Amino acid sequence: MMRVGVVGATGYAGLELVRLLLRHPKVKMTALTAERYVGQPIWKVFPSVMKETDLVCQPLEVEPLAQACDFLFTALPHKAAMDVVPGFIQRALKVVDLSADFRLTDPNAYEEWYEPHTAPALLKNAVYGIPELHREEIKKTFLVANPGCYPTSIILALAPALKNKLIDHRTIIADSKSGVSGAGRSAVLTSLFTEVSENFKAYKVAEHRHTPEIEQELSRLAGERVVITFTPHLVPMKRGILSTIYASLERPYSENEILDIYHNFYANEKFVRIHPPDILPGTADVLGSNYCDIGLKIDKRNKRLILLSAIDNLVKGASGQAVQNMNLMLGLEESLGIDIVPLYP
Ligand SMILES: NC(=O)c1ccc[n+]([C@@H]2O[C@H](COP(=O)([O-])OP(=O)(O)OC[C@H]3O[C@@H](n4cnc5c(N)ncnc54)[C@H](OP(=O)(O)O)[C@@H]3O)[C@@H](O)[C@H]2O)c1
Repeated sequence: MMRVGVVGATGYAGLELVRLLLRHPKVKMTALTAERYVGQPIWKVFPSVMKETDLVCQPLEVEPLAQACDFLFTALPHKAAMDVVPGFIQRALKVVDLSADFRLTDPNAYEEWYEPHTAPALLKNAVYGIPELHREEIKKTFLVANPGCYPTSIILALAPALKNKLIDHRTIIADSKSGVSGAGRSAVLTSLFTEVSENFKAYKVAEHRHTPEIEQELSRLAGERVVITFTPHLVPMKRGILSTIYASLERPYSENEILDIYHNFYANEKFVRIHPPDILPGTADVLGSNYCDIGLKIDKRNKRLILLSAIDNLVKGASGQAVQNMNLMLGLEESLGIDIVPLYP
């Protein structure tokens, strides 16, 4: 059985990986790391996994992890990931990194939005991990850059429209709303209950770090440089992302024509569900699952396409998609461990 480790297991994405891997039939979790919780059994940090695993959080040290594992998920903050991933790769481990560190192909773009890149040589090997778009490359690589949560929802929604040149890409506006777990588990003022509850506001308007990653992928799909307007919002809920995306149609298509194109594009995709026009996607319908639900409407008065895309930020937006990528990298059936019915209500 393949031995798998989770680096940063005490974060929200890390714990979600633990939850999914505990029920995965073809891999065995053999190591977990933390920073503040070193030496503690994970179940003491999260009683949700009591009686599920006795694994103890170990420090982030490359050599012991390389000996205990064949495959690693790194669910660390950016920068911390690129400090350790090269060491794992040198020791012949395969890695899915959930941070932003290997998502941008251009190190200059990374420097512009984050800081100087310390492992730029690996960027050419890292495959952007949206299986619905890059499945064959993911199967062959040893390093997957797992996408951001907002980008997953936006890119999957726009891919059929851009690939089929249905819209004028200069008019794209993505308006996204996220639950608070998207900000991670560290204690920050803006994530406090008093700040978040009974409140709904935008943040990082026109400067969110997911913008270059979204534009990189949309440009690949369109075959030319795409620049978008992206406005993220924080919603007082724990999980979920809903993106509402607007773009002008190149000609007056009917809703059914566009729906046909979307159904064809995702015909063989288990985790993408295209909604009929009278049912709009919502975050509650994907909770705890690896689904991305996509709905669409046309505003006939101004020939605008309106796309709606719902995911669970911790599953299709992070750890579920990471397991989907691992399955592909290990030659396993793609939906193993993530074939989950959403939790409703
Ligand atoms: N949350 C989401 O919805 C989401 C979605 C997509 C991608 N991501 C990405 O996934 C990564 C993890 O996100 P998260 O939300 O799970 O973050 P988080 O809740 O803040 O967890 C971070 C994890 O990394 C550990 N850690 C932090 N700094 C470290 C260091 N310098 N050395 C070693 N370990 C360190 C923490 O250990 P302690 O708990 O012991 O401090 C914890 O286990 C981030 O890069 C994030 O951007 C998150």
